[in-house]
Amino acid sequence: MIESASKEIIMIDRIDTIKAEVESFESLNVEEIEQFRIRMLGRKGLITNLFKDFKEVPAEQKKEIGQKLNQLKVLANNKVEELNQKASRQKEADQKEDKPDLTMPANFVEPGSRHPISIVRNQINSIFARIGYVISEGPEIENDWHNFSALNFPENHPARDMQDTFFIEKTPDITLRTHTSSVQVRVMENTQPPVRTISPGRVFRNEAISARAHCIFHQVEGLYVDEDVSFADLKQTLYYFAREMFGSETKTRFRPSFFPFTEPSAEMDISCTLCGGSGCTMCKYSGWVEILGCGMVDPNVLDNCNIDSKKYTGFAFGMGIERVAALKYQINDLRLFFENDVRFLKQFEAVL
Ligand code: DAH
Repeated sequence: MIESASKEIIMIDRIDTIKAEVESFESLNVEEIEQFRIRMLGRKGLITNLFKDFKEVPAEQKKEIGQKLNQLKVLANNKVEELNQKASRQKEADQKEDKPDLTMPANFVEPGSRHPISIVRNQINSIFARIGYVISEGPEIENDWHNFSALNFPENHPARDMQDTFFIEKTPDITLRTHTSSVQVRVMENTQPPVRTISPGRVFRNEAISARAHCIFHQVEGLYVDEDVSFADLKQTLYYFAREMFGSETKTRFRPSFFPFTEPSAEMDISCTLCGGSGCTMCKYSGWVEILGCGMVDPNVLDNCNIDSKKYTGFAFGMGIERVAALKYQINDLRLFFENDVRFLKQFEAVL
């Protein structure tokens, strides 16, 4: 009796200890779960051994202990199954995290845009490149000779007042160039005709900033020097330019003008890009807008640059890139070109 009672107590103790271990076991590692299964339910497992020892339990306690034992086995089996399921769900989740989701939309890249001045400058360059003009550049800090004197601006001549000049360090000889015409002097000094070139670049004038004027702006200078170049060539070239730049319907007209470096000089108008010539606020109801200055290169300028004015003639022209861009895109305030407001710049995203 005593013996069987103690056996029963030992058996119940063992069941309870193992039950506590089963209940407290936690793992999401499949190997650990399998080891746990073998330790409990394997051929030599703790629970399996309990079943072996169960034979020795006295008959009257078999029912109670048998029930407990069966419950323990079910508990252990369930635990193993439950942990295996959890582990496989966790694995799936981990894999999902590692793998890129190919259905996700790509990161949005904000497209940039060229500045309208660059767009128009590139267009002008390519229009003239198509008829054989090469690009030349000169310095923005110039001396009096290249900016004025060689271009036939006499000393103290009022023509110099047309261009409010920035001087560098109070040296009257060194200035910020007031126009890209300085580059035609540099080109002619270094090349003998035929010369066919355009020179885009920044120019500087001491002017108050407003919707219509700025102290920094951009010009393109054009120069063609060869034997027998005539005003008819000049007109034809600029007529071609106007149609390429503003469309094939564009009309042109030339008005007499004055520049110290050309004789004769003219200004070219085009039919208004907004109303097409019928009259609107942009063209002040004239139907025409001014686009550039031009003329036949003054023989004095050719001679100043060591080009024989008896043998060669040439024409030149100069235009403001801001002006061309303003007419092309109907921009009524020059300051917009310098403020770099993205709301303005974004409107040129589609243009190359
Ligand atoms: N340099 C002139 C200006 O800045 C523009 C110009 C006029 C250039 C006539 C020329 C020209 O080459 O022939 O206003």
